[in-house]
Amino acid sequence: MHPDLDRIVLTEQQIQDRITEIGADISRDYGDESVLLIAVLRGASLFIADLARRITSPVEIDFMAVSSYGSSRQSSGVVRIIKDLEELIEGRHVLVVEDILDTGLTLKYLLKNLASRKPATLEVVTLLSKEDKQRVPISCRYVGFSVPDEFVVGYGLDYAERYRNLPYIGVLKPEIYSG
Ligand code: IMP
Repeated sequence: MHPDLDRIVLTEQQIQDRITEIGADISRDYGDESVLLIAVLRGASLFIADLARRITSPVEIDFMAVSSYGSSRQSSGVVRIIKDLEELIEGRHVLVVEDILDTGLTLKYLLKNLASRKPATLEVVTLLSKEDKQRVPISCRYVGFSVPDEFVVGYGLDYAERYRNLPYIGVLKPEIYSG
């Protein structure tokens, strides 16, 4: 385990096994229809890479980047798109790939924006969901794991841009935050 971590919440094996299950669910639901996976940079980049390889339906991939105003550990819900999609999504089956659903504010904004572009379907897959924390209700078709309301890092999730490369997800030692 990385020395900055207090404990591991999800092991690499648990994460990968669950992604295999979600990939099977998605493949069953979309069948031979083409699905456009849209990941929000940068946290979901590892998840989309693993998930895409577990889906047997035809898959296309696109990315968006958003910046949230306010401090990095607190979502303000005011979101600016800093990198938009390359693809037009009208009439297509869009599946937004998220790393973690916290307050839901970022995703709510994003879904409203994407819905206005008239996709045929618009669904969400999130690896993690902090259930008690959601301020706005978001319906996620696929959820990997429910996690307690703690700040977690690893498998794409960062603290000050670090720890994204850990293959597992864990909680940092408190002294790492206090510097
Ligand atoms: P929301 O708008 O509050 O749902 O914030 C969602 C975004 O905040 C996620 O996509 C992450 O980038 C970030 N975030 C929320 N909770 C955590 C966490 O525990 N660790 C790392 N990043 C997080």
